[in-house]
Amino acid sequence: MSDLRPPAPPRRHLLSIRGLERDDVERVLETARALAGSLDREVKKLPTLRGRTVVNLFYESSTRTLTSFELAAKRLSADTMSVRSAGSSVDKGESLKDTALTLSAYDPDVIVVRHPSIGAPELVARNTAAHVVNAGDGKHQHPTQALLDLHTMREALGRLEGLHVAIVGDVRHSRVARSLVQALDLVGARALVVGPPTLLPRGIEALGCAVSTDIRAIADADVVYVLRMQAERMGSGEAYVPSLREYASSYGIGPERVRRGQVVMHPGPMNRGVEIDPRVADSGAALVTDQVRAGLVVRMAVLYDLLTVAAVREPVHAELA
Ligand code: NCD
Repeated sequence: MSDLRPPAPPRRHLLSIRGLERDDVERVLETARALAGSLDREVKKLPTLRGRTVVNLFYESSTRTLTSFELAAKRLSADTMSVRSAGSSVDKGESLKDTALTLSAYDPDVIVVRHPSIGAPELVARNTAAHVVNAGDGKHQHPTQALLDLHTMREALGRLEGLHVAIVGDVRHSRVARSLVQALDLVGARALVVGPPTLLPRGIEALGCAVSTDIRAIADADVVYVLRMQAERMGSGEAYVPSLREYASSYGIGPERVRRGQVVMHPGPMNRGVEIDPRVADSGAALVTDQVRAGLVVRMAVLYDLLTVAAVREPVHAELA
């Protein structure tokens, strides 16, 4: 007898900002705002995802992202476990596929993946029945960071539409910059990337931003978003900047470069004294701890969204940009 049940809707993933529509972003941000209210209560746990399992699979070091995903799952009453693996030199594709298949045997609902290779979360998504969230793949994408940054900006400045955001520094190696530029474009904000020519990837404007090598171009921005110098992705002997001291004086964000009324953001971890002066990092203009707090509620919102909002469309989240 033929099976007359309709086919199961495709599993939704969060692999890239490119796979989202504006409505998806708005819905997640609304959920995050509602969840933020629940964190003000004395009992911080919600029963929403009781009986669900969230696995964090991290092949790269992380403090904020891993802890916030763990706590986000716990606050929603899901079971959670974290598998950490220091980057190894085995054939990444094959070992990652095996790991995905192994973990899938436990029937997790969500697998959160961080990996140094571009496309790793997509590979996991092809080998599991779980929803997959990209928590950073090489220099490609970090969509939950972009969403938490949008949440932080909206809460601090009251709007996203028309907001002018200058993203400064090592754009070349930054998955944060790529995701954020796309996310800002999606919600009607303006992005400008600023850095030395060696740290601006060719063709970045195609993601939806303006480009400048002149640090003075940040003066018009509402938000100065400072990127970390990604020494670990620069390789040895590749001189992208003459020296860190030189970089700090040409592009580092010190008090003299921040105008009154601007806010300053940084995804962390900060290299104080390189891309950001401690006097700025510790000033009232800095939203860095707001970003960490946003990381928790936005990741709760992402887990909630993937597990409870019905997939009625094509798998718009499942594209690799
Ligand atoms: C970012 C990352 O890992 O891409 N950090 C983070 O998620 N908190 C940015 C960075 O490492 O510079």
